Amino acid sequence: MRIRPIHHTFGPHVDWRYLWKATALSYAPWRYVAGTACNELKQELKKVLPGEPALFTSGRQALFAVLRALDVRPGHEVIVQGYTCVVVPNAIHASGAVPVFADIDRDTLNLTKESVETCITQRTKAVICQHTFGIPAPVKELRSLCDKHGIVLIEDMAHVIPDHSGPGTIGKYGDFLILSFGRDKAISGIEGGAVMSRDPAMAQKIAGMEEAAIHRQWWEVARLLEYPARMYSIVRPLSCTGLLRPVLWTMRQFRLIAPVLTKEEKEGSMSPLLYKLPNACAALALGELKRLETINNHRRTITDFFLRYGKEHGWPMLQGITPGSPLQKFPLFVKDAQRKRAILRKENIHLNDGWTSCVVCPETVNMDIMDYHWGKDPTAEAACEQILSLPTHPTMTVFQAERLARRMDALIKK
Ligand SMILES: Cc1ncc(COP(=O)(O)O)c(C=O)c1O
Repeated sequence: MRIRPIHHTFGPHVDWRYLWKATALSYAPWRYVAGTACNELKQELKKVLPGEPALFTSGRQALFAVLRALDVRPGHEVIVQGYTCVVVPNAIHASGAVPVFADIDRDTLNLTKESVETCITQRTKAVICQHTFGIPAPVKELRSLCDKHGIVLIEDMAHVIPDHSGPGTIGKYGDFLILSFGRDKAISGIEGGAVMSRDPAMAQKIAGMEEAAIHRQWWEVARLLEYPARMYSIVRPLSCTGLLRPVLWTMRQFRLIAPVLTKEEKEGSMSPLLYKLPNACAALALGELKRLETINNHRRTITDFFLRYGKEHGWPMLQGITPGSPLQKFPLFVKDAQRKRAILRKENIHLNDGWTSCVVCPETVNMDIMDYHWGKDPTAEAACEQILSLPTHPTMTVFQAERLARRMDALIKK
């Protein structure tokens, strides 16, 4: 019997429903670029989160639009946490400002009030508070700190969108909320991003940028829509064979799958051009947003299972993870994390998610131009070396979680 892969990146949202929807859209080229889905997605976002939404092709562009609306420019500083994705400091650099990396709490992988406070200067314009993997950051404390210093608070919700069951503090305190609809995020439109703005004047400014943004080409959207089928019918079936790597390499070389990060982005640059969210991606994200509670409940079930299993078996877990959290992934600290991932890969368990061994992720980023000074955030540096995350995504089954937990337990105790 062929064992289905356990993975983070082979189309984590792509089940038969998602595949069917993407395939149907791919046969309707007149719906690729423009249509009604963007407006419907905005209406749905307003039901879930406060503020006025604007849509772009990615979370990084949504963040860049916010920094531009705030008139962030050379001479300004924006505080961001160590242990983040390269696109976040890239957006800050693209605005002309300098990212200042604040250390994290080892138990939440998020900023703390104290670490941010030590980084505030006269030049600080904003704090970007990330809810890493869906673990809530201390937004209430950060809100009062930002108010005290007259600084803008941006909540980066790329990894989590709360529903009626919480997490209650996420999305309540930021002046702006950044969302991502990337392929492995809280919900997926294959690509996409949004900003929710609380201040009507700012919302109007960002709406102007959205209006002036460029349309994606139809063939770019066509390529995006092929991603679910390629993951479902090529990558996953080949994952247990030696063909996986050459096939993925070939797909990347021939641009058969759009890269999550470009070479230029890994070198620290970001295009200042803003793109509109394609209608087809909005339609996929809308379908997922309407099922948010179901998706989050699935994540809660898997998170709670790992939490229970880990407690029973004495795993070294993060104290910041609480039952009932819809985590994007379940992080653990283990010795020799890299080696354990390599062992598991041979068993068709693919746990490399790009968030390992790097303070600015992924590991292949050129750190020389990130404005990160080695030794600055010791907790983030230590954490990223030992981190090993387990999948909780919509296509990870409870049966797979049980198999993975047993295997992890054996590896941890070896
Ligand atoms: C913490 C965080 N913020 C923002 C983003 C940007 O999202 P997107 O990929 O949609 O640009 C990412 C994406 O990787 C992320 O991990």
